[in-house]
Amino acid sequence: MRIYDIIKKKRDGYELTTEEINFFISGYVSGEITDYQASALLMAIYFKGMTLTETTALTLAVKNSGDTLDFKGVKGIRADKHSTGGVGDKTSLCVMPIVASLGLKVAKMSGRGLGHTGGTVDKLESIPNFKVDLKASDFENIVNEVGVAIIGQTNDIAPADKKLYALRDVTATVDSIPLIASSIMGKKLAVADDVIVLDVKTGSGSFMKSVSESENLAKVMVGIGKNAGKKICALITNMDAPLGNSIGNSLEVIEAVNLLKGSYQSDFYEIVTELATEILTLSGLYSYNQAKSEVKRVIDDGTALNTFKNMVKAQGGDVSVVDDVNNFKKAKYSIEVVSESEGYIYSVDTEKYGLSALTLGAGRNKITDVIDYSAGIILCKKTGNYVHKGDVIATLYTNNKNALKSAKQILLSATKISTEKPQINNIIIKKVY
Ligand code: URA
Repeated sequence: MRIYDIIKKKRDGYELTTEEINFFISGYVSGEITDYQASALLMAIYFKGMTLTETTALTLAVKNSGDTLDFKGVKGIRADKHSTGGVGDKTSLCVMPIVASLGLKVAKMSGRGLGHTGGTVDKLESIPNFKVDLKASDFENIVNEVGVAIIGQTNDIAPADKKLYALRDVTATVDSIPLIASSIMGKKLAVADDVIVLDVKTGSGSFMKSVSESENLAKVMVGIGKNAGKKICALITNMDAPLGNSIGNSLEVIEAVNLLKGSYQSDFYEIVTELATEILTLSGLYSYNQAKSEVKRVIDDGTALNTFKNMVKAQGGDVSVVDDVNNFKKAKYSIEVVSESEGYIYSVDTEKYGLSALTLGAGRNKITDVIDYSAGIILCKKTGNYVHKGDVIATLYTNNKNALKSAKQILLSATKISTEKPQINNIIIKKVY
């Protein structure tokens, strides 16, 4: 077999066989296939696409390029959720303790944030002393005892994806459905879960800007999951505005803890409760209606908050910040961003809001950048709100005084104010089973 022939076959629009896809992935990971050959194949895939059979084969090749974790020591039904990436997306911090409070087991591996999107692991690390690199046996023990533990993804999971993603990033081949789907699902399937619910974001803060593209991505990922024997579904959710009212690591943990204490923004609550309900329903332990009311109950009676606290304690974190969120270290500098005109907030460029938070220190441009956990944005007004000139739209927080001016400019330029009232879209747009 020659990589030249595989590139040519895909370039001409033909379906690759599983053997050809495996040859590509193993050759690329071992270094026998060069970056320029891999780039050519990625670009051919970008233009010609892949069938579900090819995408499933690519996913399995990515998964099998590294370690797989079976978590045999975890007793019970194992569940996970995955978001395709958004701004202010702290849903895992609530969803996982909720489903763990209702009998499921969550042994979750999460990623770090890069660019305008945040990562669950960084958010958790904003809790003083919280450990995300547990020994496998400690991880399993916590999952068995508390119901949930969340750790960072190790380098040994899906190394092919790491190499391919870095190449896609510099060759304009990130936003291809088979490449995104195989990248996400290759990592998901490396961890043996029974139930997976995907949160596929759509809109200005996500990879997929239109609902139809997001729906296609969701269908492919759900198809791959089903081919791999998982109980799986996807929610397509709106990322035309940041989720909830906070962007930034400790600010988002505070918002998540507040939800578990019964105080929340409606968009955030709706996504959290729907994701948890779908996970519980797919598990087979509850009907949809039972799941919905049980999710509400464990939030209202504090059970889910208690599970979250137990996880924080078991992973070495300081629970005093959960008991009282005012114990989180605050950023040294803050400024209020005020509206320069009067009217409705007609739309926001969510990706730019993420970039504003990144400028404040809440995110990374490259994986080695150090995060300022207390940096970020609290939104006082969201799309659809009416503002007068001088009303506060948002407050910016940072320990880097020099960042305030440009972060403010980015946020203002990303906020469109109009005399016309915007139409507000539902937060949950579609479900794909
Ligand atoms: N997240 C991933 O892990 N991979 C992609 O390709 C896109 C988003």
